[in-house]
Amino acid sequence: VRVLWCRVDPAYPVAVGSREDSFVCETIERIHREGTWAPPAAVITDANVGPLYAPSLCALLERLGLEPRLVTVEPGEGSKSLDTYGRVCGELLEAGVSRRSPVVALGGGVVGDLAGFTAATFGRGLPWISFPTTLLAQVDSSIGGKVAVNLTAAKNMVGAFHQPRFVLSDPSCLETLPPREYRSGLAEVLKAALVGDPQLLSLLEDRVQAAPGDPPDLFEEILERAIAVKCDVVAEDERDTGRRHVLNLGHTFGHSLESATGYGRFLHGEAVAIGLSAALWLSSRMGLMDGEGVERVEAILTRWELPIRAEGLDSESVERIMGYDKKFAQGVPLFILLEDWGRPVIVRRPPEDLVRQAIRRMVGRGGDEA
Ligand SMILES: NC(=O)c1ccc[n+]([C@@H]2O[C@H](COP(=O)([O-])OP(=O)(O)OC[C@H]3O[C@@H](n4cnc5c(N)ncnc54)[C@H](O)[C@@H]3O)[C@@H](O)[C@H]2O)c1
Repeated sequence: VRVLWCRVDPAYPVAVGSREDSFVCETIERIHREGTWAPPAAVITDANVGPLYAPSLCALLERLGLEPRLVTVEPGEGSKSLDTYGRVCGELLEAGVSRRSPVVALGGGVVGDLAGFTAATFGRGLPWISFPTTLLAQVDSSIGGKVAVNLTAAKNMVGAFHQPRFVLSDPSCLETLPPREYRSGLAEVLKAALVGDPQLLSLLEDRVQAAPGDPPDLFEEILERAIAVKCDVVAEDERDTGRRHVLNLGHTFGHSLESATGYGRFLHGEAVAIGLSAALWLSSRMGLMDGEGVERVEAILTRWELPIRAEGLDSESVERIMGYDKKFAQGVPLFILLEDWGRPVIVRRPPEDLVRQAIRRMVGRGGDEA
């Protein structure tokens, strides 16, 4: 097990390695004693992940006297809802969860956000730890304490900042992940490389396949490097008021695509992949980076079979979603661009015509020629 630290206050370990390692047991036991946790522990998972990984995790918690109670939700974004949250809280109450009981998240970003939000609010706040099981959750969503559920009309609208006490990312869990989900997570790994680790970018370029068949040592190094980028940025700006925005590279474009397609066509990482290409293009058109940046990033994404365009979409509707419609008055989103590998900049108002061109290019309607 390799241990990184997310240095917020209090700092917490983010470990990469086998969940069978004695370190995992020792860490949970240490936190348990320090914080004098009380049973039962509420293990929140989904119906895909639970059958695979809950038995061994529950056995460990059992050995530590934490009397795990399993709460299972439906897989998918639909579970990040106030309805599911209400049901989970009801189950916690029935299980006798007290204010010293820990919540344990076991699953992807959906379970992590839901379990974290439950931990932030149930009984005015419970301690929590996280066992992320998707690549996206391991390198991104499990770290940094942003937790939320969705409203029908707005994603992540009801949420909190609530840092976990311990995160364990076990790469072997990714072997059961559907390949499309795995590739989608790679887009967030690439984003981490672009905003904070040029050496990781070279590793991704030279060595990484789009399936979890990479040599384990290499893969662990990649995970660690991506996690380190996230931990560093979060430590600089825990509450997301400035520096942390750089983690949104590719996301301003990506979110607009997800929204324009009703969250049904692209997985989050797929939309981010297209968004990364658009952000690099805009960076080069604004003279921040040379044009080879776009080619380099698109070559990696294409090799991983991730999309780089959202063909068939109507550029006007994407413009509208991004606030670039006629009125332009509602305020436009921030853009994260690159001025060099590993050097993101936050741009408040890039030239409007270039943003429009970037959108047209993104939906496969040219843009390069202008
Ligand atoms: N809190 C944050 O900072 C943050 C950051 C980025 C994304 N997010 C959120 O993360 C969510 C997306 O997370 P996700 O991409 O992990 O999706 P997800 O949690 O829906 O998981 C994807 C699918 O894979 C399945 N799965 C998970 N782990 C598995 C495994 N090891 N083996 C087999 N199947 C497995 C799940 O059941 C699900 O069907 C979104 O709601 C997004 O808003 C949060």
